[in-house]
Amino acid sequence: MNNSAKIVLVGMPGSGKSTLGKTLAGQLGFDFYDLDEEIVKEEGRSIPAIFMENGEGYFRRTETRVIEKLLQIDSAFVLSTGGGAPCFNDNMTLINRHGISVFLNVSIEQLLLRLTKNEADKRPMFQGLDTGEIRLKLQDLLADREVYYEQSKIMLSGDDISTEHLISELMSFFR
Ligand code: S3P
Repeated sequence: MNNSAKIVLVGMPGSGKSTLGKTLAGQLGFDFYDLDEEIVKEEGRSIPAIFMENGEGYFRRTETRVIEKLLQIDSAFVLSTGGGAPCFNDNMTLINRHGISVFLNVSIEQLLLRLTKNEADKRPMFQGLDTGEIRLKLQDLLADREVYYEQSKIMLSGDDISTEHLISELMSFFR
C-alpha cells in the first residue's frame, strides 16, 4: 500500500469506525486519528459541551477545519470521522481528493444494539432519547446522509466487518 495513504472511515454513529480504525492502523503500522478526539483536544472540552455552548454550526465548522489540517499530514494514517462529518461543507469532496474513503455500511438494527443508553448519551444527537426514538433518529439521519456516505471509494456492508476484510478490500483498491 502507498506509504502516504490516508484511509478515512465514514459511517453512522455506532458503525465501528473508531474500533476498526485503531485495529487497522495497528495492523498496517499507520498512525491513527479520531476526528472527535482531535476536536476535543483542540477545543479543550467535550463534544456535548461544544454543541451546548456554541451550537452544531460551530461544531461542523470545527470538523471541517480539523479534517483539512489532518489531510495535510504527509504520512500514512487511518482517520475515523464522526458520523456527520462527511455530510457538511463539502467535506466528502475534500476527503476524496486527498484520501481513500471507506463507508462502513451497518444495519440500523446493529447500530441500535451498539448505541446502548450509555453510548447514546455521549452523543448530542441521541441524548435523552429512548430506544424507539433512537431508532427513528437513526433512520432519519441515514436517509439524509446516505448520499454522502455513498460517495466513498470503498463500501463495506455487514454487521460484523473485520479488519481482514477491510485490508483485502484496500489491497484490491490499490491493485
Ligand atoms: C455525530 C457523531 C459523533 C460526533 C458528534 C456528531 C453525528 O461521532 O461527531 O456527536 O452527527 O452523527 P460518532 O459517529 O463517532 O458517534
